[in-house]
Amino acid sequence: MKMLVAQKTLLLLCVGVSLAQDSNTAEKLKNIEERLRVTEETLEELKKENQVLRTFTKASSDKLKSIQAENKAKKVAFSVGLLASGSQSFGPFDTRKTLLYQKIFTNVGNAYDPNTGTFTAPVNGVYFFRFYVHAHTPNQMAVSLHKNDQLQCSVYSLKPESNANGSNGVVLSLQKGDEVYTQLWENSWVFDDGNSYTSFSGFLLFPV
Ligand SMILES: *[C@@H]1O[C@H](CO)[C@@H](O)[C@H](O)[C@H]1NC(C)=O
Repeated sequence: MKMLVAQKTLLLLCVGVSLAQDSNTAEKLKNIEERLRVTEETLEELKKENQVLRTFTKASSDKLKSIQAENKAKKVAFSVGLLASGSQSFGPFDTRKTLLYQKIFTNVGNAYDPNTGTFTAPVNGVYFFRFYVHAHTPNQMAVSLHKNDQLQCSVYSLKPESNANGSNGVVLSLQKGDEVYTQLWENSWVFDDGNSYTSFSGFLLFPV
């Protein structure tokens, strides 16, 4: 009889332990599930953040590239003389002619084209231009600076007694692609030699 009681007690004890173990395991599983859910949520958030960072990095690197390209285009300065060598008068002609300066002192940014005598603005900005001309008697000396098809400023001498010099300059606000060049008037001439009396220069003051 005593024995039976002891056995029953043991049995009950076992069931109790097993039940306790079961509820412990269920609790642990629930915990793990909860942690997994939180981890998954965090992972989702991190993925989103990563995507945002990726987009931001791409935008930053694009912006950097465009700033670098812009900075390169901002280095603009040229200075040219009419003749590369020799000495000669140019003109007179019965129509206006664009002066094609051939002696390149500087052409940073290659915005001046010696084939057309034209400077083409590589960026929107404020630019300074000046030109200097020299001519002999007896023809008229007359040269104008143009922006696209519009005359900006000129030098003029009707009939130089022996020779004449003239200079003018202007600050111009240009859009990218605007063209600046100098034109010899009809029935006029200019002279140049190794002294580079007749020259044309320009540079970007600041971009806008
Ligand atoms: C024009 O400039 C040249 C070179 O400096 C000079 O020799 C000449 O006398 C100048 N002409 C006049 C009319 O001032």
